Amino acid sequence: MTQPKKLFVKTYGCQMNVYDSERMSEALAGEGYVETDSPDDADMILLNTCHIREKAAEKVYSELGRYKGLKAEKPDLKIGVAGCVAQAEGAEIMRRQPMVDMVVGPQSYHRLPALLKQTGEGAKALDTDFPEEDKFEHLKARPKARRAPAAFLTVQEGCDKFCAFCVVPYTRGAEVSRPVERILREARDLVERGVREITLLGQNVNAYHGVGPDGADWSLARLIRALDGVDGLERIRFTTSHPNDMDDDLIAAHGEVAKLMPYLHLPVQAGSDKILKRMNRQHTAESYLKVIERLRAARPDLHLSGDFIVGFPEETEEDFQATMDLVRAVEYGSAFSFKYSPRPGTPAAERAQVPEDEKTDRLQRLQALLTEQQRALQDAMVGREVGVLFEKAGRLPGQMVGKSEYLHAVHVAGIEGQVVPGDLRRVRITESGPNSLTGELA
Ligand code: SAH
Ligand code: SF4
Ligand code: F3S
Repeated sequence: MTQPKKLFVKTYGCQMNVYDSERMSEALAGEGYVETDSPDDADMILLNTCHIREKAAEKVYSELGRYKGLKAEKPDLKIGVAGCVAQAEGAEIMRRQPMVDMVVGPQSYHRLPALLKQTGEGAKALDTDFPEEDKFEHLKARPKARRAPAAFLTVQEGCDKFCAFCVVPYTRGAEVSRPVERILREARDLVERGVREITLLGQNVNAYHGVGPDGADWSLARLIRALDGVDGLERIRFTTSHPNDMDDDLIAAHGEVAKLMPYLHLPVQAGSDKILKRMNRQHTAESYLKVIERLRAARPDLHLSGDFIVGFPEETEEDFQATMDLVRAVEYGSAFSFKYSPRPGTPAAERAQVPEDEKTDRLQRLQALLTEQQRALQDAMVGREVGVLFEKAGRLPGQMVGKSEYLHAVHVAGIEGQVVPGDLRRVRITESGPNSLTGELA
């Protein structure tokens, strides 16, 4: 028997990259690779990259720089760059870092085994196509290994929205939905392997419109209702959504589908209609607030999360205050906020930029408000009972950690042995810390 070769994968960016990294590692398992958590003893290093903000891309180049020594010591070491930087920069990556053997875009990674065979003796391989075939269907050699209780499942790829700041439509390509039956098959397979919670993924997941077993186009709501019928699956989540694609049925599902969790990530980016228009978001602050009002009517305890960009070109202090007002109106349970980062090839990169110190100042003020809201909602959980899906042992002896319906991390002490990963239990919350809750079994 030949020794298994070792694969080190490092993932940047969104959950879709996390899912893709798992699939790439499965594809390479068919080539005799097993995963290692250190680059030092690896035979292949694969970086699955993100291009969303400037720092993300620069991080990849500095990470590659760190492997120079390893490659010099071990010329057979394969170095691959996958994901959105690979798509955006292509052959430029090999020019900047000649030790890179393979560059593979996010829609071609099922071709990795074939690309790998093209490399060696100085030969390099590059694939940044947007092929017609479904990459997920081409990944054979799926090990039937047991999985952690919570898993991602990509149902839709790409984006047709072209927000003026965003690279995703260019790096991931056009919006494509996977057929319903393949998703249901994958969900059942995950449940057989121990999964209890599935998060459906897509850049615009609520625009999902995959072909159903009846030949008709199914909406995300219909897909969720079908998944609700999968025995052994306890929880369903989905991310990321666009406000304009929250249709009536999906809103209603939040009140009707028991397995659908009361937590929704619904990015708005900004609160000023002038800025929203320049961002090409195709919605207003009011239409966003209206969607939230309807969601809360369907599911009153819904926790909301959002994404925000400050310092978009031409954003004034008044525009920024409109973002602060919107945040005050919504009261978010969690949020992600960023300084605008001009991305090559996107329309907004060409416009008059807001000075860096102004961006920094706005980001600090926004984050202070968001943190305050997040803290208030989290503190309000004390004394309440929540459902917790336990995922793993905690840092303290006997402690277990899981997630509440609202996606809070919850720690319970002294229950190891009583509770195993994958158990769903009622927990009474006793304490609220900076990033997590503590409780006891109810
Ligand atoms: N498809 C998702 C988000 C994809 S990117 C959606 O439409 O909501 C994740 C987040 O990164 C975005 O919501 C946005 O807040 C942020 N982002 C995207 N491009 C950016 C840029 N150029 N500068 C700063 N933040 C950006
Ligand atoms: Fe980017 Fe906008 Fe598409 Fe989201 S909807 S991925 S922000 S272009
Ligand atoms: Fe980044 Fe690509 Fe995801 S740019 S956020 S890894 S889609």
